[in-house]
Amino acid sequence: MAFSTRRVGVLAVMALAMIAMVSAKPPKEACGRTIVVTELYNEDTLAAPEFLMTETNQTKFVGYTLGYEDEAVWGGSGDSGRKAGDIVAACFVNSVSGDDGWMLNYCTTTLTFGDYGAISWMGQFPDKQDNEFYNPIVGGTGIFEGARGTVRTNILSQGERWRYQFKLLSTPKC
Ligand SMILES: *[C@@H]1O[C@H](CO)[C@@H](O)[C@H](O)[C@H]1NC(C)=O
Repeated sequence: MAFSTRRVGVLAVMALAMIAMVSAKPPKEACGRTIVVTELYNEDTLAAPEFLMTETNQTKFVGYTLGYEDEAVWGGSGDSGRKAGDIVAACFVNSVSGDDGWMLNYCTTTLTFGDYGAISWMGQFPDKQDNEFYNPIVGGTGIFEGARGTVRTNILSQGERWRYQFKLLSTPKC
């Protein structure tokens, strides 16, 4: 009897813990129709063909796909120090400009906000200092399920720091 009571107690604690996890509220920054994050390039997690891993001449990357795994932090500067989520992107390198070596990519990108959900977008990614361009949001999961809208990208620092402002057509299900 004492044993089963304890077991019921353990189950109750587990159930409460699960309810607490499920009902934990997403951060307020993720809950509006406008969301702003900045991606910080991490060279340690860049995926490239083995023979290009040490290549410094950007032109050699044309025709290959680069895989990015970077942290996204809240806000538009990249300096907040508060993690928003993780970005995974596959970017095909279409061309590299001769003058200052900027890359024209075509990227498919997903930003996952921990357990709350993810936003995916795709399109041209001209990674040139101070560029601003727009891409379509093509879907989402979790609180962003069925996401549609537009993401504005600002190249804060070419090849290193990219700001995204998502404009969703509907409010996340927070
Ligand atoms: C970079 O590679 C391209 C293509 O192979 C070549 O034409 C160019 O001269 C190289 N640039 C440098 C600085 O080595």
